[in-house]
Amino acid sequence: MRRILVIGGAGYVGTVLTEHLLEQGYIVRCFDNFLYKNNHCISSFLRNKKYQFTYGDMCSPSDMSKVFDEVSDVVLLAGLVGDPITRKYPKQSRLINELGIENVIDIANGKGTKRFIFVSTCSNYGMLSSNEIADEEFSLNPLSDYARAKVKCEKYLMSLFGTTDFKCTILRFATAFGLSPRMRFDLTISEFTKELVIGNELTVFDANTWRPYCHVRDFARLIQIVLEAKETSVANQIFNAGGDDNNYTKKMIVDEISHYIPKAKIKFLERGSDPRNYKVNFGKVRKVLNFKPKYSVTDGIKELLIALESKVFQGIIEEKNMYGNYEIDYKNDF
Ligand SMILES: NC(=O)c1ccc[n+]([C@@H]2O[C@H](COP(=O)([O-])OP(=O)(O)OC[C@H]3O[C@@H](n4cnc5c(N)ncnc54)[C@H](O)[C@@H]3O)[C@@H](O)[C@H]2O)c1
Repeated sequence: MRRILVIGGAGYVGTVLTEHLLEQGYIVRCFDNFLYKNNHCISSFLRNKKYQFTYGDMCSPSDMSKVFDEVSDVVLLAGLVGDPITRKYPKQSRLINELGIENVIDIANGKGTKRFIFVSTCSNYGMLSSNEIADEEFSLNPLSDYARAKVKCEKYLMSLFGTTDFKCTILRFATAFGLSPRMRFDLTISEFTKELVIGNELTVFDANTWRPYCHVRDFARLIQIVLEAKETSVANQIFNAGGDDNNYTKKMIVDEISHYIPKAKIKFLERGSDPRNYKVNFGKVRKVLNFKPKYSVTDGIKELLIALESKVFQGIIEEKNMYGNYEIDYKNDF
């Protein structure tokens, strides 16, 4: 029976991954410090005998060294996630996204775990010209502290390839969408849909910039595939995680949403603060791991519309921080 340590398991991706792994019969040990007071997001798991929770900070050597007991594999999701929040908290971003991740890697090495999955981001590609599509060999051009830290951690892991007891796989995730026990309305598809359902005028900057998207449940399935794949297919490998059909411009996303909300008010402006523009090639993950997303962007918008229109997210305006990565109160002196 494999016991998967999910670091950052109380987050947007982590709670959906937990649900999926528990359904598939795995034991899940979640490690998290509830950076957004997101403790309520794990409450539904606590009755499951195959679920274990450890509260702690991944930057703390003593917190980290306690959680590896009987762990077979590690999925590292925790971090200060997103460009805006890392721009707002640069010091905390360095502590968590660089020193914290390195701390986890160093402590995990030597604990006898099999697989170590590090979740990185396609944001690492930064800005491409219109005829370019980034595969895993494409040069990296991180444009934010968030992506620069991911690139740094990828390089650190690559420098250790072949020297660690665990076999490492790096997954560069597309931008996520879809429902999760811990919602994030600071992500493009969810943010646009929410604003238009509420009836606000949506300002869209640089509508023709491209980015790839992927449903959180597809990410969960991909992580299971990596855990179960032949070692030779995944050890010391980097995969773009997503699907070619889910490369979208912002304009394409708002067009899809407007199809369901004909009275949507949208203002288009150029030269916003986020210059990212990248189309990504997902051929490697399809060919090597036979992974193709099941959910389209349209599927994601439809499920979100149903939830929003049913008023599932009460307090979405008054208690904004519950529903996204907007503010933290984080100190550490490790
Ligand atoms: N969501 C996306 O669109 C997206 C896209 C690309 C990559 N990713 C990557 O996927 C991973 C998960 O993202 P998410 O959307 O679930 O983010 P999230 O912010 O919802 O979840 C992160 C979790 O990590 C926890 N955490 C933060 N700092 C911690 C610390 N020091 N110690 C212990 N726990 C800590 C938080 O409490 C939270 O539960 C991240 O590594 C992110 O970079 C996400």
